[in-house]
Amino acid sequence: MKVILVSNYSEMSEKAARIIEEQINKNDHSILGFATGSTPLGLYGNLIEGHKKHGVSYKNVQSFNLDEYLGLDKNHPGSYHTFMYENLFKDIDISMEHIQIPHSSSLSMEQECKRYDQVIDRIGPIDLQILGIGSNGHIGFNEPGSNPNSTTHVVELAASTRNDNTHFFGSLEEVPTHAITMGIKSILKSKRILLLASGKRKAEAVKRLLSGDISEMFPASHLWNHHDVTLIVDQEAYKLV
Ligand code: GLP
Repeated sequence: MKVILVSNYSEMSEKAARIIEEQINKNDHSILGFATGSTPLGLYGNLIEGHKKHGVSYKNVQSFNLDEYLGLDKNHPGSYHTFMYENLFKDIDISMEHIQIPHSSSLSMEQECKRYDQVIDRIGPIDLQILGIGSNGHIGFNEPGSNPNSTTHVVELAASTRNDNTHFFGSLEEVPTHAITMGIKSILKSKRILLLASGKRKAEAVKRLLSGDISEMFPASHLWNHHDVTLIVDQEAYKLV
């Protein structure tokens, strides 16, 4: 794992944006994996600026998202469909047909999981997957205890994850209890992975990740089994290492 230590959130966001833009410059048909949460918001702001000011085009780019909450309409303000549209897609020239986000309203979630994996296999592999890290070490919504061989599946969210995400909803009760997520195995199929961590809330998780111990109880540790992972971490998140 390559570690890039930066001073703060804004430097992390800029560095990550430059890496994505280099990928697109190299191949304008790149397949990108996007993440949600507070961490990539600054990155997405930088990508929008790169598009508007410097003409970086996403016309031929395809994208996959890691996960989606269950039980929310696509248009719910807390859904990841809404998150991606509001924070990135509406301000870049990506084609709506090139965007993949798991559907959480399918009649059969089992079929939807299968469909999502098939689409990843048909269009992919993902060239560059962006990841955040949960305070409990989750990636996507793969919570502690997740099977490293998992593909897309439905999960019950950990109490800490629902707590961490309360600020995206009005109250804890409104945070969904379940989600659909790409599995650890599906994530590790990406050619390159860019993991972002910022702020003291992530310091414990970064310390545990960089200890190098691989454990099912700490999902992000499976990233050690991938040959091309870059962690961009700011000083606050790095301070316990
Ligand atoms: C959610 C997402 C994850 C994300 C995590 C961290 O649970 N499903 O993909 O990495 O939150 O969130 P934040 O960036 O807000 O700390």
